[in-house]
Amino acid sequence: MRRKLVVGNWKMHGDLKSNQTLLESITNGLQNLKNADYVVCVPNPYLFQARELLTNTNVAWGGQNVNQHEQGAFTGAVAPHMLSDLGCQFVLLGHSERRVLFHETNLTAAARFDASIKAGLTPVLCVGETLAEHEAGLTEVIVASQMDAVMATLSDEDFAAAMQVNMVFAYEPVWAVGTGKTASPEQAQTVHEFIRNRIARRNSDAAAHVRIIYGGSIKANNAKQLFAMPDVDGGLVGGASLDADEFIEICRLAN
Ligand code: PGA
Repeated sequence: MRRKLVVGNWKMHGDLKSNQTLLESITNGLQNLKNADYVVCVPNPYLFQARELLTNTNVAWGGQNVNQHEQGAFTGAVAPHMLSDLGCQFVLLGHSERRVLFHETNLTAAARFDASIKAGLTPVLCVGETLAEHEAGLTEVIVASQMDAVMATLSDEDFAAAMQVNMVFAYEPVWAVGTGKTASPEQAQTVHEFIRNRIARRNSDAAAHVRIIYGGSIKANNAKQLFAMPDVDGGLVGGASLDADEFIEICRLAN
């Protein structure tokens, strides 16, 4: 039985004051929920604040991206060990906004996935098709190519390490991210099952254990049906993670 996982992705939102209010509300609201895992991925400057307010709570924190290098002349970049240093357990990788707006590729995601697991972080690899790809019936082709680019770079030893840190996949159809359109529970289930089967080609035990979460306009009013699907192990929540009541309700539904 896989524990459900809800990850909030704050994107580029917040400030010290509003973050404090939000984090305090979330930790209060979630303190008695014991049957699922909860995470917030905050902008890097606020990782210190997340560590301060979330240590010894049942809410973990993470980064929204990371660089693949350990150190060096990479102005503006953050290394995996820096996230670990600040107590991050998770890191989002290959988010569609990184792919579309910052031209990150499958290869970058793969290098970052590898570097993250080596630093002991749990990577949350985002995959998903654009609207044009969706309409052209290419969903599985795209998702497979995004997954394979990462899986192919992992040696058996790396794959074992990825299992050790409980790697996560997030199916985020690009047409559903921030648009208010959600994949139907059945659509999500079909792709999640496809992802799990693809992992099973490499390792069936890993496939049974890996958590595959759905993202794209999750709200309190659609989370229940999505989470009821057998291969939907939780959610990656953008906009609704900035509203304490919405986020708490989504987490409650995962519990
Ligand atoms: P959304 O974002 O919930 O606002 O659609 C999801 C995400 O980008 O991870």
